[in-house]
Amino acid sequence: MDKLVWVELDRNAPDHNLKEILKGAKKGARFCAVVKSNAYGHGAREITSLLPSADWFAVNSLDEGLELRSFGIKKPVLLLGYVPLSRLDEAINNELRLTVYNYETLERIDSLSKKGLLKKPALIHLKIETGTGRQGILLDEIPDFVNAILNTENTIFEGVSTHYANIEDTINSEYARHQLQIFKKALALIRDNGGNPEVIHTACTAAAILFPQTHFSMLRVGIGIYGLWPSRETYLSALLSGSYLPDLKPVLTWKTKVVQIKTLPEGSYVGYGCTYKTTRKTKIAVLPVGYADGYDRALGNTAHVLVKGRRAPVIGRVCMNLTMIDVTDVPDLKLEDEVVLLGKSGNEQITAEQMANWAGTINYEIVTRISPFLERRIV
Ligand SMILES: Cc1ncc(COP(=O)(O)O)c(C=O)c1O
Repeated sequence: MDKLVWVELDRNAPDHNLKEILKGAKKGARFCAVVKSNAYGHGAREITSLLPSADWFAVNSLDEGLELRSFGIKKPVLLLGYVPLSRLDEAINNELRLTVYNYETLERIDSLSKKGLLKKPALIHLKIETGTGRQGILLDEIPDFVNAILNTENTIFEGVSTHYANIEDTINSEYARHQLQIFKKALALIRDNGGNPEVIHTACTAAAILFPQTHFSMLRVGIGIYGLWPSRETYLSALLSGSYLPDLKPVLTWKTKVVQIKTLPEGSYVGYGCTYKTTRKTKIAVLPVGYADGYDRALGNTAHVLVKGRRAPVIGRVCMNLTMIDVTDVPDLKLEDEVVLLGKSGNEQITAEQMANWAGTINYEIVTRISPFLERRIV
């Protein structure tokens, strides 16, 4: 069906990226593809269907996990976020792995089991707080917590994880190494207290690329499978340290169509707030995309789009559903011609990193905020 704004996904790119990252991994390491938040805005249904080599999937919420099950995904699914106590039975009965760091969660699992409400064992992944100041238990809580897990009915202590705080945005790996040391102490403590989890996972994309010692038994990778580097610093660190450099291919192109073309005289205002005034006779095109679609308002008077392989500047403010561009220098433009907001056109490319710089954010946010209501077209 004809759409005015849509996202195209390169059919081969996600699995290619996964395999590229795995090439640098320890032999036998499993690959958990992080597809939370609608697969970082790419489309969870489509991306999971394009990742045949993924061993596991990870999402944030219970509802996202149930959604993957509704797509017919039978592979292990790990919930990275918190599951409300009142819905633990739904997670467990759908074999969704739980990230656990509260006694209350264990107590509720025990009571559900005693009431005969669990049809499957609870598969628990203990999260260790190693310095991100987010989810997880501290080292000195480990003995009692492991004991509590082992005494929770109908429970399998399957995994242990942590997450690095300062691995993407720096070329200094000191803090990540410090967190890794704490995690290793945690593993020893878990084993000393009778735990024997087999799925050990800490490596996000930056860790997976830069530090093989973080791989353990499974990588837990997000941004890299979408063909994006976590940051310039990660790329630079990989270059400087001589790490293996995966050949990452961006998966997503974001497109729209021209819905009006007109020529305004010199001295005309464009958009809300009259923040742009033409300095010459200016041919403008109106695009049916705006901040409601995830096209950031900060892109007004700043970004470019690609029209027939040429850059055209965004002029005036980005509206909720409309954006105006200057196409004075684009020849032969017609109504409903395609415009690339993000991706390639001819020899030009607008990357998520460039758009993030324009909008004052990171590539993760640029792609994740593309509206889930837009069609994802596999090409
Ligand atoms: C707990 C956890 N693990 C893994 C990831 C994946 O990180 P990346 O996208 O940098 O690979 C994230 C991303 O936010 C996360 O929150």
